[in-house]
Amino acid sequence: MVKRQFTQRRSAFPVVIAFSILLAFAYLSSYQTTAEDDTYHQSQNATLGFQKIYVLNMPSRIERRRNMKALAKFHGLQFDYAQTFDAGQANTLARASNYLINGTHLGCYLSHMHIYRHMVDEDIETALILEDDIDMELDLKKRHRQIMDEVYKRYKADWDMLYLGHCTSDSSEPAIAAFNATPPIDNGGLGGSIFIDPADRAAFLARGLTLYDAEYPMCLHAYAVTRECAKRLAVLLEERLKTLGQDIDLVLAVGVQFGFSTVLGTSPPYIVQIGRQELTSDLAQLKDGNTAQRLSQSTLFHLKLRTTNPQTLPPYIDWPWFTAQNK
Ligand SMILES: *[C@@H]1O[C@H](CO)[C@@H](O)[C@H](O)[C@H]1NC(C)=O
Ligand SMILES: *[C@@H]1O[C@H](CO)[C@@H](O)[C@H](O)[C@H]1NC(C)=O
Repeated sequence: MVKRQFTQRRSAFPVVIAFSILLAFAYLSSYQTTAEDDTYHQSQNATLGFQKIYVLNMPSRIERRRNMKALAKFHGLQFDYAQTFDAGQANTLARASNYLINGTHLGCYLSHMHIYRHMVDEDIETALILEDDIDMELDLKKRHRQIMDEVYKRYKADWDMLYLGHCTSDSSEPAIAAFNATPPIDNGGLGGSIFIDPADRAAFLARGLTLYDAEYPMCLHAYAVTRECAKRLAVLLEERLKTLGQDIDLVLAVGVQFGFSTVLGTSPPYIVQIGRQELTSDLAQLKDGNTAQRLSQSTLFHLKLRTTNPQTLPPYIDWPWFTAQNK
């Protein structure tokens, strides 16, 4: 359109030349991606387009370390094993700093917080943080490309957190509305459960991969964070330890509810937690409940490192019918 304006002029020639040079320059510079663009266009590299992938794994947890190594090898990923805090270290710090939580819960809290501080100190632009009890979709990178293209289209670099996985459902998750709309009916004494239409359930399981604005994301087994957000979280979380005394995922989920950040979720999640009863080293923690979620094709199952096919599992533990079934 601009060109037509110019060519209508009497002595348009110099202008056309200048315009062509400008055009050529714009074309060339579009190939020189900025640091900001890199995160998205390199979503297929060994750190999935983030500057780092941190893994929280205690060296004593051999089975989990084995799984993480297998996942890294299969998907061509490069992990940085981050410092973790065990219950003993956590309790020492809790006493010194008057923290309101302790034990393994505090250890987990401190391990994530330590990464945020590290990101700020080392000037890490973006990082994906993984816990070690996870499994991934076999076509992880394909799904990830689709999500990062969408993130870029909608937000450029202007987001704070991106949950590649979450446990429990989020009311803002696509296709969840049908369930929330289903009125409670008598389910024949199954313990206050509500009926979920099998068609709705099938629709939920068949949903296409989508990026959505998370309202209440739970679990921190696979999420990305930007440096700016890490900076704020490091301060916020330290303060909450002394005033609130709640687990870190809860503190973050409540923060999201108040809208302090741009927090995105992926549905269905393509990195999920493995049910605790599947990790033999964790048998003692069985009472924590089963957090297993469905994957359409599990990498660990494919590699024969998982006994249960996640395809046969219910998608989320918090669905009433699932809770009722397992009473
Ligand atoms: C992947 O791409 C990101 C973004 O450009 C970069 O920061 C990171 O270093 C790359 N990872 C590897 C392993 O090259
Ligand atoms: C953690 O704190 C609670 C409540 O203050 C206390 O009962 C418990 O013994 C503490 N646990 C550890 C491992 O220190």
